[in-house]
Amino acid sequence: MYMKKVDVDKFYITRLMHPRHTVLITCFNPENNKSNIITVAWSTPLSHNPPLIGISISPKRYSYNLISKTGEFIVNIPTIELIKEVLFCGRKSGKDVDKFEKTKLTPKPARKVRASIIEECIAHLECKVVNQVEVGDHILFIGEVIAAYSNEGLFKNIFDVKKVKTLHHLGEDLFVTTSSEVLK
Ligand SMILES: Cc1cc2nc3c(=O)[nH]c(=O)nc-3n(C[C@H](O)[C@H](O)[C@H](O)COP(=O)(O)O)c2cc1C
Repeated sequence: MYMKKVDVDKFYITRLMHPRHTVLITCFNPENNKSNIITVAWSTPLSHNPPLIGISISPKRYSYNLISKTGEFIVNIPTIELIKEVLFCGRKSGKDVDKFEKTKLTPKPARKVRASIIEECIAHLECKVVNQVEVGDHILFIGEVIAAYSNEGLFKNIFDVKKVKTLHHLGEDLFVTTSSEVLK
C-alpha cells in the first residue's frame, strides 16, 4: 500500500534512530573522590579487537569534564527496575546533586579504574579513553574496554532475555524493553 512520506523536523531527526539501548555511565571526580552518573542513549560498540566502544556526550554535561580530565568511564547496564533512577540521572546534573546519594544506587569499587560501578546494574564495561572526537555539538569518547563482567546467570555470550529486561529509549520519558519472544 502507498504511504505518503512526510518530512521530519530537524530537531527530531535523531529520534528516527531510536529506540536506543540506554546505559548509565559512571565517571570519577578526583577533587572529591566521588563518582557521578550520567544517563546515555547514544552509545555504540565500535571494534572487537581491541574492544572499543563509543559514547557521545555533550560538552555541556558535568560528566564531560570528568571524563576529559580522568580519561576513564564505566558503562553500567541497567534494567527496567531502574527506570526512575535512569530518568533522574538523565535530568539532574552532578554539579548540583550527588546522584548516588539521591537515587540510593550503590557505588562499589571497580576493578581497573577509579570510578565506581553501580551495584544494581547487571553488567559493567570499564573503559580507558583512547580517543575523543568532536562530532557537531557532542564529543565522541572512544573507550577501550579493559574489564568487563556481568551478574552470574544473566549473560552467556548473549543476554538471557527471559531473565533480563533492558531499557531502550524511545524519546522524552518513554522506553521500550526486550521481549522474551525471540524470532529465528
Ligand atoms: C534517556 C536519556 C538519554 C540521554 N542520553 C544522552 C546522551 O547520549 N548524551 C548526552 O550527552 N546526554 C544524554 N542525556 C542527557 C544527560 O543524561 C543529562 O543532561 C544529565 O543530567 C547530565 O548529567 P551531568 O551534568 O551530571 O553529566 C540523556 C538523558 C536521558 C533522560
